[in-house]
Amino acid sequence: MWYSTSFALLCIASVAQGLRFRESNDQPCFNISTPETPVLDLKWAASIDSFYYPAMSTGNLYRLAVDLLQKDPKDIRLSTVYYDACIKWYVNVNGTSTVKGFNVLTKEYARTPLKDNPDAFTYVGLGGIQDVSSGTLYTTLTDNKTFFFVATCMKNGEMTWGVGSTTPTLTEETKKIVLDHAMSLGFNTEDFTELKYDTCKN
Ligand SMILES: *[C@@H]1O[C@H](CO)[C@@H](O)[C@H](O)[C@H]1NC(C)=O
Ligand SMILES: *[C@@H]1O[C@H](CO)[C@@H](O)[C@H](O)[C@H]1NC(C)=O
Ligand SMILES: *[C@@H]1O[C@H](CO)[C@@H](O)[C@H](O)[C@H]1NC(C)=O
Repeated sequence: MWYSTSFALLCIASVAQGLRFRESNDQPCFNISTPETPVLDLKWAASIDSFYYPAMSTGNLYRLAVDLLQKDPKDIRLSTVYYDACIKWYVNVNGTSTVKGFNVLTKEYARTPLKDNPDAFTYVGLGGIQDVSSGTLYTTLTDNKTFFFVATCMKNGEMTWGVGSTTPTLTEETKKIVLDHAMSLGFNTEDFTELKYDTCKN
């Protein structure tokens, strides 16, 4: 009884505190070497109008929440992030990418390919005061059919990761592949976070 009460209190306290960003275990950016052959089939990627974002590192999700809500991390409730984010990405033909979430919010990023690496793009946020997700995105793994794994080196020198998917959930098999890959890159898999789309309106 004593244990369960104090556990519940702890949970309430941490929910009320807002996002604790710096403790989310982002790691310093490391060099992602340019592969001999491209990882991603860009024609396939361009053929998808929008994709879901069902798995990522905690820091990546928090950052997107900050960019979308345009709030200080401490003013964002953790429960909102998990229940209302409903993140989808759109790759626009005009050279930008848009993230949509929290029902109606959007944030657009200008997208520039890196000269020497076909799997890398630099993203720069357009508009808004909060811009903590901008950086260089590297696709490091994909099946060219259902998902792709992206590691992002952000402008503050920290690195996160996320998975774009054609479906709102990843299969158990893909989840394992993704986690093994994140671990092989040195990410801390305790930071693995999943977004559920069951209660999303769009
Ligand atoms: C990445 O590689 C460049 C060029 O080889 C080097 O100057 C830089 O220090 C490396 N950065 C890291 C974080 O290893
Ligand atoms: C994905 O497409 C790229 C570019 O065509 C190719 O180099 C890579 O081997 C493909 N990967 C898979 C798993 O099919
Ligand atoms: C790029 O295209 C998207 C989707 O059509 C649009 O919402 C956005 O405003 C455009 N951005 C720019 C900078 O033209």
